[in-house]
Formats: sequence, structure tokens, C-alpha cells
Amino acid sequence: MMPGERLQRYLARAGVAARRKCEELITAGRVTVNGEVVTELGSRVSPGDEVLLDGRPVAPEPLRYLLLNKPAGVVTTVTDPQGRPTVTEMVGGPGRLYPVGRLDIDTTGLLLVTNDGGLAHRLMHPSFGIDKVYVAQVEGMLTRGDVERLTGGVLLEDGMTAPARVRVVGRTPRGSIVELVIHEGRKRQVRRMLAAVGRPVLKLHRRQYAMLTDAGMAPGDFRELGSDEVEALKRLSERGSE
Ligand code: URA
Repeated sequence: MMPGERLQRYLARAGVAARRKCEELITAGRVTVNGEVVTELGSRVSPGDEVLLDGRPVAPEPLRYLLLNKPAGVVTTVTDPQGRPTVTEMVGGPGRLYPVGRLDIDTTGLLLVTNDGGLAHRLMHPSFGIDKVYVAQVEGMLTRGDVERLTGGVLLEDGMTAPARVRVVGRTPRGSIVELVIHEGRKRQVRRMLAAVGRPVLKLHRRQYAMLTDAGMAPGDFRELGSDEVEALKRLSERGSE
């Protein structure tokens, strides 16, 4: 729990009910904080406060922020009807955790997984626009013209892409290795952008998400974010929703 969290959010996070219903419980005088009945919807609670609903303690799970280096073959969902391994199973642990955005099953790389619904929602909002750095291995040689088209924006079936930063960083016997920095998050965006310039993706990896990089993380590794990293993401998400 962050200092000064709104009481109705705290109750909702504890699984009491949806936020609106929690507001009703507060105004009905059924919630106490440190022994005092609280009916003001603007009330806030801090770590260490004792919150009771109808005399029974209420405490949400602690907020968790995990960074996973997703391997290929793992789906970005909470449960998969086809029984394939999911990112939330990979990070395990108690309680509900949700991926922030999505990587295709064949895409590897960085994915945030958290139970902080508010932050996840802000990070995924289109106005947020944080940088995501992808490295793609493509078929064929990417020309300067291709790079210029990708940089300026290409027309996909759901509209023009925003300007991207694009550079060729290597060659393979069959093609090029290209780094793309984009801040949109459309479905299969990088694969569609590269296909649009005639360079199908053979392999795709997200090596950076905002300021978080995959340095030192093998495929399948995951780690808790430090509080400084969480605060930095929160600052970015507030900036993005201005
Ligand atoms: N773009 C894609 O095409 N796939 C991903 O998984 C992520 C970005």
C-alpha cells in the first residue's frame, strides 16, 4: 500500500467489492480506520492503519511489481484455455498478477507483471507513450528507404504508425537485424510494420521497457522491481496521462 491511498481503493484492492460498492460501504458508516468510523470518501489510509469492515480486518495483498524476460512459447494471459504455459504461471507466487500489455507467443523479452491495476492501466493507456525497444531479425536486407519509411510511419490496416526510431544493427546470412523504438502498443505492431516494408520478422525480442533493460536476465528469469524503479514508472505514467 502506498502512503495516503484512498480508502475506497484500498477496500477494492482487498477484494471487498468494486470501487463504487466500497464507496457505499464507507458512506454507510460500516468502515473504521484505527477505531474511528470514517464516512468521508476523500479519506486516505497509510501503511500500519487498522481498517475494519463491520468489525472485521481488511487488508489487501501487498503490491507486487515483477519484470519477466519472457521466453518463446509462453502466452501473455492469466489462464490459457489451450493449456499452454502462461506468463503469470512463470512468475508464480500467491495472489492475482496481471501482465502489462502483451507480447506475442513467439516474441521474447521484457514484460511487466503486477497486481497494481491502477499503474497497469495507466501504463497501457495510449496517451502514456513510453519507449519500448525491440530487436528484430528480419528476412532480407533492410534498405535505407525501408528505414526511412519505418521511421516516418507506415500505413497498417488500423492506421498510420507514429514515428519510430529505427536502425540496422547487424546482418545475418539471410537478412538484417534491426532495432526499433516505438511507444505505441498495437497488436503485433512490430511484425506488421516490418512486413509492410517487405521484411518479415523471423525473431523478435523486447530488450527494453521504459528504463528497464534485460541486462543480466536470461530467458525465463524474473525479478521484483526495486522501489526506485516502481517510483520511476509511476512518475512516467503520471507524465503520460497529462
Ligand atoms: N510487436 C509485435 O509484433 N509483437 C510483439 O510481441 C510485440 C510488439
